[in-house]
This record gives sequence, structure tokens and C-alpha cells, in this order.
Amino acid sequence: MAMALLFRSSVDSEARWKPQLNQLMPGLEVRVWPGVGDPADIGYALVWRPEPGLLASLPNLKLILSLGAGVDHILCDPHLPHHVPIVRLVDPYMTAAMSEYVVLQVLRLHRHDLDYRAQQSEGIWRELEQKNATERSVGILGFGALGQDAGRKLKGLGFDVALWSRSEKRADGLLGYAGGAGLEALLRRSEIVVCLLPLTAETEGILSRRTFARLPRGAVVVNAARGRHLVEQDLLAALASGHVSAAVLDVFRDEPLPSGHPFWRHPHIVVTPHIAAATNPSTAAPIILDTIRRFEEGRPLLNRVDPARGY
Ligand code: NAP
Ligand code: GLV
Repeated sequence: MAMALLFRSSVDSEARWKPQLNQLMPGLEVRVWPGVGDPADIGYALVWRPEPGLLASLPNLKLILSLGAGVDHILCDPHLPHHVPIVRLVDPYMTAAMSEYVVLQVLRLHRHDLDYRAQQSEGIWRELEQKNATERSVGILGFGALGQDAGRKLKGLGFDVALWSRSEKRADGLLGYAGGAGLEALLRRSEIVVCLLPLTAETEGILSRRTFARLPRGAVVVNAARGRHLVEQDLLAALASGHVSAAVLDVFRDEPLPSGHPFWRHPHIVVTPHIAAATNPSTAAPIILDTIRRFEEGRPLLNRVDPARGY
């Protein structure tokens, strides 16, 4: 008997996903959580933040597919069935969207956009000293699918880009740093630091007092990865001291960012509502269905997650 796919995401995303999946793979029955039906029918789970224990309750589950590039929302389940492979989403359109976000934020920081907006609100006409892009150093934490593309595009604009990874990496002539010593070196040279890391036990809280202290005075921080990468009080302290001059944050420990949170009204923090690179069903559904076909045909899976590594 053909296995069904369980779709579990926000309620409003069902209407956008189901027609895409049905159209591309008419033979695949799609059930939308909480309408699981007989749990024994479910072979595939396509999920975003599944309830702890949901995946373990599906006895014939063969493959877990993440609706996002990150998989921390799956790996945090204490009952995760560890024998079931997990595949994360790598969608070139999502990668391009993240690069747009990173380039947009780097450019507005580089071109003093926040300062000019503040000046405008006061009716001030004042020219600020402008560096060339080649004189502006950008450090990207993460040399993966997203970091690499953003790095390449920033380099194309002339920025002095370097990237940080766990293992030694080289791609497209990009300057790479690896490991603990590499992080120190990258931070020392980064006027703008952009976090594009997966959230793991090793990377949680990486945007901390210790990290900020290694940046040049007046550096700016962009976090488009996960809220738990950032130690919020440490950022507020670094902004208060002037050591960090601004931050752009797309992701937060609590989402939506609670009303009354100090980030909302901070003059040197830009808040966006986790939109840097949203999953788009029209481009992601064919990639997800290709993964299922590969699995059914016994071909190697692409973008398989290593749960021990955490990404
Ligand atoms: P990826 O391809 O798996 O790349 C991860 C990179 O991080 C790799 O270069 C990896 O090093 C590096 N890394 C991991 N742990 C490290 C450590 N302890 N020390 C140093 N480097 C480490 O992931 P991706 O597709 O680029 O996505 C990155 C993250 O972006 C996702 O996990 C997700 O949380 C976030 N994201 C956010 C949004 C949004 O809308 N805000 C959208 C999509 C994704 P190696 O190369 O050595 O393995
Ligand atoms: C979004 O945050 C993702 O992980 O794709």
C-alpha cells in the first residue's frame, strides 16, 4: 500500500502547500496535522516545529523532511526517532532570498542608512564619511549554502568578505576561517558580522559579550539565523557601551517578538519578523518531491542531516 505524507506546519500554510503537492505527485496522499488518521499509514513527514513525540508516534515513518533550511525545530524533540533519516530544505530561490536580505542590510549599514533616517527625523542635512565597499570588512558566520551565496554576492559588490566554518573550506576564491582560532581572526577583521549558522549545542549563544568584544569598536551585527544564537542582554550592553553600533535582527528567542521587548523600540536595532528567506511552496515542493522519489528509488539523499552534528 502507498504510504501517506503527513504535513505539519502553521494552519495558514496548508492552503498554499496542499495543491502544490497534489499537483506534482497525484499518487501521494497528503494528510494535514492534526488529521493524522491511522498513524501506521504515514511514511513521510513534512514538518515545521512538530510537537515533541509526534514523529515517534508514526510507526512506519521512513523519512522526515524539514520545511525549512534549519532543523533545530526537529532535533529538539526529545522523542525523535533516531533511525529515521532527516533531510533539510536547500532551495536555490530561498538561498537567493537570504542573499537579498543580507546584501540589503549590509548595504544600508555600509551606506549609513540608519543614521540618515535618524537625521531626517530631526531635519538634519549632514554628510557622513563614506568608505568604499572594498574598505568595508564583512565577516559571515557560516560557510554553508546560505553563507557561501551571500558571501559571493557581497564580494561581487566589492566588499572585503570572509567566512567562518567548522571545517576548512574553500569556494569561489572566498576567504575562509575555521574553528576556534579562525573565529577570533575573523571577528577581529569584521566591521559587519552576519550570522548564518545552524543552531546547535556549539553555536547557541555565539553572539555574546565575548564575541562582541573581539569585533572592532563600532561594528554592527546582523542575525538572520536563529534567535538563540544571540545573548540578548549582551547585545543591549554592547550597544549601550557603543562597542557595537547597531544590529539587524530577523530571528528571536521568542517569536513573535513579545510586545514591550526592548528590541522593538531600540534606536539602533532593526527588527524584521523572521522573513529573511521564507519557504515558498512553489519552488520548495518540487525539491521535496524529488527527495521522496530519490528515497523510493533507493538513490542517495541530498542534504541529509547529521543529528549528531546538529545540522
Ligand atoms: P548549512 O549549509 O548546513 O551551513 C552551515 C554552515 O555553518 C557550514 O559552513 C558549517 O560548517 C557552519 N557551522 C556549523 N556549526 C559550526 C561551528 N560549530 N563552528 C563553525 N562553523 C559551523 O546551512 P545553511 O543552509 O547555510 O543555513 C544556515 C541556517 O540559516 C539554518 O540552519 C537556519 O537556522 C538559518 N535560516 C534562517 C532563515 C531566515 O529566514 N531567517 C532562512 C533559512 C535558514 P562546515 O561547512 O564546516 O560544516
Ligand atoms: C527558516 O528559518 C529556515 O530554517 O528555513
